[in-house]
This record gives sequence, C-alpha cells and structure tokens, in this order.
Amino acid sequence: MTFELSGVLLAPADLLAVGIDSIDDLPDGLDQAFGGSLSAALTDEPFSPVAGKTFPVRAMGRVEAKWVVVVGTGSGSVEDIRRAAGAVGHFARSKGCASLRIGLTGGPEHTTAAVEALVTGNYRYDRNLAEADRKAPMESVALVGSIANDADLERGRTLGAARGFARDLVNGPAAEIYPETLAQAAVDLATARLSVEVWGDERIDSAGMGGLGAVGQGSDRPPRFVHMVYEPTGAPTAEVAIVGKGVTFDAGGLSIKPTSGMETMRCDMGGAAAVIGAMSALGALDVKARVHGIFGAAENLLSGSSYKLGDILTMHNGKTVEVLNTDAEGRLILADCLSYASALEDVTHIVDLATLTGAAVVALGEHYTALYANDEAFRDTLNEAARCGGEAFWPMPLEPLYDELIKGSWGQIKNVGGRWGGSITAALFLQNFVAEGKTWSHLDIAGPAFISKAEGHLEKGATGAGVPALLAWLSSL
Ligand code: BES
Ligand code: MN
Ligand code: ZN
Repeated sequence: MTFELSGVLLAPADLLAVGIDSIDDLPDGLDQAFGGSLSAALTDEPFSPVAGKTFPVRAMGRVEAKWVVVVGTGSGSVEDIRRAAGAVGHFARSKGCASLRIGLTGGPEHTTAAVEALVTGNYRYDRNLAEADRKAPMESVALVGSIANDADLERGRTLGAARGFARDLVNGPAAEIYPETLAQAAVDLATARLSVEVWGDERIDSAGMGGLGAVGQGSDRPPRFVHMVYEPTGAPTAEVAIVGKGVTFDAGGLSIKPTSGMETMRCDMGGAAAVIGAMSALGALDVKARVHGIFGAAENLLSGSSYKLGDILTMHNGKTVEVLNTDAEGRLILADCLSYASALEDVTHIVDLATLTGAAVVALGEHYTALYANDEAFRDTLNEAARCGGEAFWPMPLEPLYDELIKGSWGQIKNVGGRWGGSITAALFLQNFVAEGKTWSHLDIAGPAFISKAEGHLEKGATGAGVPALLAWLSSL
C-alpha cells in the first residue's frame, strides 16, 4: 500500500472520503459537484459526525469516483481521527476500492494514527473464500489536508503492517501455522540488525525447559523455542525483552476441551504473533533499545505421548510444577520463557503476552487486555502506551494473598488454582519464574486477540492485540 500527501481532494479515485466535524465542514467543491444534494442529505438524515460514523453514497458520475464517504471526526483528537480513518479503510475493503483520496486534518500524530488505522481497517483474511467473496485491498492512498511529512506516513504504514503481519499468523489455520512454521516466520525476518535463534526439542530438553517440552511432547510436530534480538544502530538506550505464548493449537491436551471451546484455538499463539509482529517493525521505527523477542511454540494435543495429570515438571529455573490440568499449558511454556529472559543479565524490563485464560475474558470481555505488573509505574507506562496505540488495557491485581491457591502438594507450584480469580492465579504462577530485580508485566490478551464479531474497524478474528501497545512503549525508550 502506498501513501502520499496531496493538496487536491477532487481527483480520480475509487473512493473519495472526507472527515467532517460538522455538516458545515463539508468541502464546498464536493458539495457543489453534487449540486448541494450531499449537504442536504446529511442535514436530512440528520448525520451526526461522531468519530467513525460513515455516510456512504455512490458517486454516480458527480465526481470521478465510485464511492464518496463522509465520515465523522468527532473531537478531532488522535483517537477520533483513528476511528474515522479506520472506518474508511474498512469501508474501502468492503467495496474492494483500490485507490482512496481522503481529506483529514491534523498534525503528525493524527496522520500516523490515520495511516495505521487505514491499513488496519482495510485488513481482511479472505484468502480462502470464493473469488466472488474476496475484495481487493487498497493499493494507493492520498491524504489531503494533513500537516505531516513522509516520515509520519511511513511510521503509520509500518505500524499497520506489523499488526497485519501478526493478524495473518493468528488467523492462519493450525494446519499451516505450527511450531516449525511459526518459528520460520521469525527466521524470515532476520536482518543484519535482527538475529534469530531457533531451538528444537532436543535443545529445549537439554536447556531444562520442562514446561515447553512437556506441552509439546503430545504432538507429532515438535516444539520450538525462539530468541530474536534486535540491535539498534547506536549504543542501546535500554535493554528489554518481550515474551509470547505460542500455542499453535490448544486442544487442551488430556484435559480436552469441548468442541465449542476448541473451535478458535488456533488463536492461542496470539502472544507470540504479537512479539513477531512487533519485532518486524523495530528497524523501520528506529527503536533505540536492544529488544529481545522470545517465544515458545508448541501444540497442545492428545496422543500416547501427551503429558499427564500428576506429572511433576522441572522448569528452566529449577522450580517444580505439579500438573493438575493439561489445559493450563500456556503458563508452563511462558514460565520457561520468562526464566530464560530473566537470565539475560542486562535486560531490565520483561513484558509477556498470552492468550492465557478464559477467566480474563469472563472478567473483562473481548475488548480489554488484563494488565498485570510487579511495578506500579511500569503498569502505568504500559497502560499509557496502550492508550496511545488505540488499545484498551485494564489494570488487575497481582494479589499475593492468592499465592496459596497455587501452592503445590507434590511439587512446589500447581498449574491451576481453581475457577475463582483464574486470570490472577495464572499471573501469580508466572511471577514465580521472573527473577528478583526484573521489572515485569503480564498481558493476558485472551479476549482481544481474537474477537468473535467485528468491532469498529476490526474484522472478526485476529486483531493484532498487543502490537500497538508494544510498539508505542518500545518507541518511547
Ligand atoms: N488458551 C486457553 C485460554 C483461552 C480461552 C484463550 C479463551 C482464548 C480464549 C488456555 O490455555 C486455557 O485453556 N486456559 C484454561 C485454564 C484453566 C484450565 C485453569 C481456561 O481458561 O479454561
Ligand atoms: Mn489451554
Ligand atoms: Zn492455551
């Protein structure tokens, strides 16, 4: 998708869109082309220009376009411009419009958000549909009226592409995306400034990653451990790690899920996809920190070699875990990854992302990521990064009172703590594998990673949850 800044709104394009914050705001030239009927129709509706609300009309030869969309820009805040642009991108895809000219006002931040939202709104995973049901994505976009430069456009394009990359991995069926291919997606990103190391099952075992090894052993497709390192151009301003859960399919293992709970479990590598997506953008965003991208990839299946209830696992940091439910597998994989990340001496901050618990979805629904941190200031930093990126996080308590719920009797820690507070006990479990002195945050993205119905400019399915927040945070270092 190409983007350019332009001074001309009324020029040929499949789709002509204008953002307005009141009907009086409609560009005269456009309304004149319609002989005044556009403003009359908006008044008659009456159209209230709340952010992201669209009023599409067929151009019918009045302007050189197929469609004209009037979109509300609300208060004109970055958030509202994002909504407006997202709605236009979404509309463009629904009609298969390949070219767009869009009039939107705002500065560099608005422009970056608008471009990201145009890309994100334009996303559809329709590659397996019948030809007639597939719609062409946008190819060229001209932005009119923004006070910005090419770098602001490029930044938005990069953010949108990173998110789209993660969405493709998550939407992709488990027959295509399994540990080996998920690891390969990371390997394919390698550059002079991005190194990627992949371990197979033997190395996973010899490194003492008992959690990742156990979850992965029930599948014919062996697990992978992946460590990516992004090296900034100058001396690093900080050194951090992002860690993802990469369960490419979660059948629950011997604690098998019912069909209804399993249907969308290809989404269970959403954390790893967010890590890969974010890592893909660091060079283009010129991030100044050294960033480690780490994930464990495995399939949680049932077979003669599956791990079992009552098994005692010895994890990467030496702690023992008693398995009481093989469907609480994500925390076992993350535990090893967090312990590995903790051993990276100069890493000060670790963020993990995981579609970890149904309990997080029960608590917060599909819109919110459950946000945990062992440091209040860092929790605020990530909450703010999410807001900047257009995501919704909600702070949750890392309540030490509940540690007793996961105290083991045959091993040190149990992998389940009962139904109550299930997202919190999962977070407390993970905390056991973060070394003292490391600032850590856990993002349970089980709700927003894969949504059951379209919301705003996001299609149903994968959303790229976590990518915007990670990139907002990493860009600030
Ligand atoms: N991958 C699931 C969590 C999940 C649920 C993600 C819904 C996305 C949507 C996870 O591995 C899981 O099965 N968790 C169990 C934990 C329980 C056994 C303690 C759950 O939430 O039921
Ligand atoms: Mn599970
Ligand atoms: Zn899972």
